[in-house]
Amino acid sequence: MAKVAVMGYGVVGSGVVEALDMNKVSIRNRVKEPVEVKYILDIREFKDDPFGHLITKDFDKIANDPEISVVAEVMGGLNPAYDFTKKLLMAGKSVVTSNKELVATYGAELLKIARENKVNYLFEASVGGGIPVIRPIYACLAANEINSVMGILNGTTNYILTKMYKDGVSFESALKEAQELGYAERNPAADVEGHDACRKIAILTSLVCGKNVDYNKINTVGITDIDELDVVYAEKMDSVIKLIGASEVFADKVYSSVEPCILNNSHPLAGIEDVFNGVLINGNAVDDVMFYGRGAGKLPTASAVVADIIDCVRNKDGFEKYSWEPSDSEFVAPYEENKASYLVRIQGEANSVQIEKIFGDLETVTVADSEFAVITPYISNKELDSVLKELPVIKKIKIIK
Ligand code: HSE
Repeated sequence: MAKVAVMGYGVVGSGVVEALDMNKVSIRNRVKEPVEVKYILDIREFKDDPFGHLITKDFDKIANDPEISVVAEVMGGLNPAYDFTKKLLMAGKSVVTSNKELVATYGAELLKIARENKVNYLFEASVGGGIPVIRPIYACLAANEINSVMGILNGTTNYILTKMYKDGVSFESALKEAQELGYAERNPAADVEGHDACRKIAILTSLVCGKNVDYNKINTVGITDIDELDVVYAEKMDSVIKLIGASEVFADKVYSSVEPCILNNSHPLAGIEDVFNGVLINGNAVDDVMFYGRGAGKLPTASAVVADIIDCVRNKDGFEKYSWEPSDSEFVAPYEENKASYLVRIQGEANSVQIEKIFGDLETVTVADSEFAVITPYISNKELDSVLKELPVIKKIKIIK
């Protein structure tokens, strides 16, 4: 019998306990022994919950119990998750997590501690909810040099964008629905301002590079400034607007960003709607590979956490060698060096003389009387921002063909 503990009894934690219970027979058959939850750590009381008797407020009870071999940390946030995870790994217990903030911030250190103590630190649920992506990148794409990683990495914002522009629902009510469905972070600013997607692209990029990608260095723009006219422009360009996390990978540098993008309808990520996420990876042997599925939600996320628990129980004597090393401060290229083509919305009537003087002959797009937009050539943010200073710019949106 394998005894496990679950730290945090929120949306994901309750899903983990439910999935282990719901599928206990098939899990026992796969693992060749029953997998049972012995403790659930939470500061709240759950008197009427069927698993309420497992609740404890005492972390040390878990850390000091020799029967516990695997712990699921699904509390989220850095504190006390960081401290607890370190103590558990040092006590010889494997830890599995959905906590992208912790993995993105302390992943290199926690993986090192896990290796030194011959236990696992697994985090399949930290990116893409229920989509298998961490292990496939690490294991199944190991023959490749990875050229690029890009994706729709946040279910809440994809749900909001889909509801707003397909069903005409307001931003606020779409966000409320996403919260009610258990998709949003405790503080939904992390979703709508792009920080959640930023941590996820940092984790994926660290994994493919084997070097730490500091998420604080990734230029991150959320969806709060996206308005109806942006969507009209996108439609006119046979495109949709999606929040995209992307990294171009080179031996000594990565170019990473998180921002709303105008994505052509022929792009593999363009049709991904609602809470679904997609991750598109290009490797030098395999070419393009895409992973698709539910990026948030109770049972989809629990599916990935429980799979990691099962992996730890199955491989008690072995351990995964996921790792990434610390990197120097130059590893993530600064915002100014990132290059793309942009749609630039400009106030007033199309003034071709002025635009031509700045950019040369450019394609313009018009959807309203009071403004127009130009499609820029492939250009660095530094160059573009310096020329845009001369114009009454409303905003610029990256274009992905
Ligand atoms: N708030 C996150 C999302 C949850 O919406 O994608 C899954 O990481």
